[in-house]
Amino acid sequence: MANVIVIGAQWGDEGKGKITDLLSRSADVVVRSQGGVNAGHTIVVQGQTFKLHLIPSGILYPDTECIIGSGTVIDPKVLLEELAQLHRLEVSTDKLFISQTAHVTMPYHRLLDKASEEKRGKYKLGTTGRGIGPTYADKSERTGIRVLDLMNRDHLHEKLEWTINYKNGILEKLYNLEPLDPQAVIKEYLDYAEQLRPHVVDSSLKIYESIKKRKNILFEGAQGTLLDLDHGTYPYVTSSNPIAGGACVGSGVGPTVIDRVIGVAKAYTTRVGEGPFPTELKGEVGQLLGDRGAEFGTTTGRARRCGWFDAVIGRYAVRINGLDCLAITKLDVLDELKEIKVCVAYELDGQPCHHFPSNASEFARCRPIYEAFPGWQTSTSHCRTLEDLPKRALNYLKFLAELMDTPIAIVSLGASRDQTIIVEDPIHGPKRALLDANGEPVSSTNN
Ligand code: IMP
Repeated sequence: MANVIVIGAQWGDEGKGKITDLLSRSADVVVRSQGGVNAGHTIVVQGQTFKLHLIPSGILYPDTECIIGSGTVIDPKVLLEELAQLHRLEVSTDKLFISQTAHVTMPYHRLLDKASEEKRGKYKLGTTGRGIGPTYADKSERTGIRVLDLMNRDHLHEKLEWTINYKNGILEKLYNLEPLDPQAVIKEYLDYAEQLRPHVVDSSLKIYESIKKRKNILFEGAQGTLLDLDHGTYPYVTSSNPIAGGACVGSGVGPTVIDRVIGVAKAYTTRVGEGPFPTELKGEVGQLLGDRGAEFGTTTGRARRCGWFDAVIGRYAVRINGLDCLAITKLDVLDELKEIKVCVAYELDGQPCHHFPSNASEFARCRPIYEAFPGWQTSTSHCRTLEDLPKRALNYLKFLAELMDTPIAIVSLGASRDQTIIVEDPIHGPKRALLDANGEPVSSTNN
């Protein structure tokens, strides 16, 4: 058995949904530990597309338990829409559990998120506008509403009445917005509470019981390393901890139960929202990556900024998350390119810089130092083993593994489950990978 964390090694949108979906087939339990409806996973199964924001992708396997952990922030309206979507597609949600200590995103959080972004003007962060920052801010300020509160009718009435009046003061006086009607909001949320009640549990206890039964647990990350509140490109980050350590905090498990950490990275880089992005490509190549990669946010529909693979960030993700191995996604997006570049280091104020600078103004001054490769200019989306890959594509992967001193275990070449080269099952299989840290192929046969 193995308990595995899957995290994003870049700025989110790395294709974690597909990788966790693949690994979920070996998992008994899938836990989402942070973030809210700012995340978006698109999963394609037998031609059917599922767009999930909160519910772990493991829900598509009938025997897998899915837990939305206490470090998440839950927007009940969106969650119920997701449940309805799954029901329409005849997917059972009986094994979905929601932490009673997760915080709830309320209508005033969404209003405040959008209003504060507008007020920031040129200093805006480019948030998803889903109320994530204000929900986590209330959690830290200890004025948040938790799922537990939703479940207690009288208590919710009292608590929400006070909170909405307090928030109305801010909405009206600071942002010149219409106040919310406390009674209407209370009624709406009491209704949501009844619909969600059957799913609510003590999630840490539930996970612990699974650990005791030696079940395989997959901790599914949302967003990515560089969006981490503490270790990302602050202030252009989200308000939770998407790094591997955050999975333990947000699930309520100790670090000793984790066997393995898998980092998911695209074969190039994307970013949504504001903030520095050293390898960003604003011209034709960036456009091609965006078009071929369908780089539009699942949640907001915003076009993602595209750029070359950045190995400085990759190495940082290895360090901050203690990555055991990598899953490289969307390799096929590079298929048509004549030349492919990889950022191997930065130049900062005339000096080479090999490590991600945690000082935001230094990071903004970093210029990429590239190594260039001839492209393979042939389709890879049909490849199912290492041997199927064009030599130049294989060399590209070897180079990434070497640069990050981390083996590559999975390569994804398209949205479907089968468009994948996978040699190990990181949950049941031994610690073995597709390419070792020196970039040597290990094997490409399944266990
Ligand atoms: P927030 O999480 O909505 O507060 O947004 C803060 C920053 O994180 C913005 O730059 C968003 O674009 C980014 N962000 C939040 N969630 C995701 C995600 O799932 N993928 C990519 N970027 C995200």
